[in-house]
Amino acid sequence: PLKQDLKGRRAIVTSGPTHEPIDPVRYIANRSSGKQGHAIAAALAARGAEVTLVTGPVTLPDPPGVRTVHVEAARDMFSACFLDLPVDIFVAAAAVADWRVAVEAPQKLKKSGDLPPVLKLAENPDILRAISTTDAKRRPALVVGFAAETENVVAHAQKKLSSKGCDWILANDVSEGTQTFGGDSNAVHLVTANAVEDWPRMSKTEVAARLAERIAAAFNEDTTK
Ligand code: PMT
Repeated sequence: PLKQDLKGRRAIVTSGPTHEPIDPVRYIANRSSGKQGHAIAAALAARGAEVTLVTGPVTLPDPPGVRTVHVEAARDMFSACFLDLPVDIFVAAAAVADWRVAVEAPQKLKKSGDLPPVLKLAENPDILRAISTTDAKRRPALVVGFAAETENVVAHAQKKLSSKGCDWILANDVSEGTQTFGGDSNAVHLVTANAVEDWPRMSKTEVAARLAERIAAAFNEDTTK
């Protein structure tokens, strides 16, 4: 049994894709399976944290011992996260759609003899940035984001760390052939303000366990967190 060194700490973890509706039957999505985010929620709970998992549509079962909130679109994920504040730890593993369709059609779009429809997109709220920059009273002590990149993985992640205002970023390569989306293993770089650690490829469960261990260490060595 693991040390209960996150007992008394509350955490929110986001996971999975979001589905952005086009009309009542169609949506825009991405290839996230939820495996990485769900594993992180379970790993934090295994060390005694009280965890809320906010997940987009996935086929995985809800992890035992974790309160799971199911959402569809980015805006629902945003509200669900803010509703659950305050927490000590926020981990953003979800692949949130950057854009939604500006106006959801109330009825199924029909084929006609004319040109195919053109979808106008609008930008979604950035959950990680909003949580990182919320007022000091509500900001979690430790905010961890992910960076999904296809090139210059670490450099892009370092930029994201400052532009989003989070404390740590786990950077992963999602270029074709890596199977980072959907696969069972992951090779991540832990990027902080003044260091980069390259973790070897390991199962997503092991990545989650190692992250939970680092989070516990951060709280236990720094009493202000
Ligand atoms: O689900 P799996 O199949 O196991 O795959 C895991 C994963 C590849 C999805 C995961 O490891 C991962 O990288 N998740 C983040 C995916 C992503 O959207 O990355 P990004 O670089 O586009 O976004 C950066 C960060 O901002 C992420 O923490 C993301 O959750 C967050 N974000 C992005 C946009 C937005 N509107 N709101 C956000 O919170």
